[in-house]
Amino acid sequence: MTTIAVLGAGKIGEALLAGLLKGGRSADELLFTERHPEQAARITDRYGIAGVEVEEAAKRADVLVVAVKPQDIDPVLTALAPAVGPGTLVVSLCAGLPTSLYERRLPDGVPVVRVMPNTPMVVGEAMSAISPGTHATAGHVALVKELLSSVGQVIEVPESQQDAVTALSGSGPAYFFYLVEAMIDAGILLGLPRAVAEKLIVQSAVGAAKMLAQSTEHPVILREAVTSPAGTTINAIRELEKHGVRAAMLDAIEAARDRSVELGK
Ligand SMILES: NC(=O)c1ccc[n+]([C@@H]2O[C@H](COP(=O)([O-])OP(=O)(O)OC[C@H]3O[C@@H](n4cnc5c(N)ncnc54)[C@H](OP(=O)(O)O)[C@@H]3O)[C@@H](O)[C@H]2O)c1
Repeated sequence: MTTIAVLGAGKIGEALLAGLLKGGRSADELLFTERHPEQAARITDRYGIAGVEVEEAAKRADVLVVAVKPQDIDPVLTALAPAVGPGTLVVSLCAGLPTSLYERRLPDGVPVVRVMPNTPMVVGEAMSAISPGTHATAGHVALVKELLSSVGQVIEVPESQQDAVTALSGSGPAYFFYLVEAMIDAGILLGLPRAVAEKLIVQSAVGAAKMLAQSTEHPVILREAVTSPAGTTINAIRELEKHGVRAAMLDAIEAARDRSVELGK
């Protein structure tokens, strides 16, 4: 039995616990820490998982998944340092925090794997990119891949690419939400009731996402298939190009990457 403790059962932490249960782990194999007693009680009631202190989690768990906000990491590392054993795998879900930070603060040789997940984890559709630190073996990477597969898809990337990953898939869902919001506004502008515009756009997003995921075609080909000569779509595309939407997207994602680099310092 592998005991897994999630440190910080907020949005991402809770989604992971729920996914692990759904994926076949039993509540006895899982632990969590949470500083709000009401949130801890709610999680125990809902999932039957025990809430413990960070030090106890460090002693009992084989895998410690850190899911607190990056700015809350300091007290967590202070509590873990004297309690964590060399055989314990530490998995960090914290945006921007390098494996070297954990390696510096925790006992020598503790294996660390860094993960950049995203919020679709709450519906079992996360995109997680993982990178092993200095002491993590192929076995550790395989275990983390297996754990995260219960809440979505997983790829391995070198840690040097994690800032780019953060800007693309970490923040990515927000870009789609923003686009959907703007398209719903366009529906309102054209006189549609909000509920109708929302239904039209959200289902179009779901359908387009499924086509992208299932098709082997490049997105350009999928778009060309709905862009008929002198039709409506090409008129819309001309406006998007005129307003520099593609260039705005490149600049936006580059700015997100730069901010991720800054946060990691
Ligand atoms: N949400 C995303 O889109 C996303 C995407 C990729 C990665 N991540 C990463 O995932 C991590 C968690 O994000 P989140 O959105 O789930 O944040 P969140 O909802 O704020 O969850 C973090 C939870 O940990 C608790 N906590 C803080 N310090 C603690 C401690 N010392 N011991 C026990 N519990 C503690 C927090 O309590 P308080 O409420 O008191 O702070 C909160 O309930 C972050 O590092 C973030 O960078 C998030």
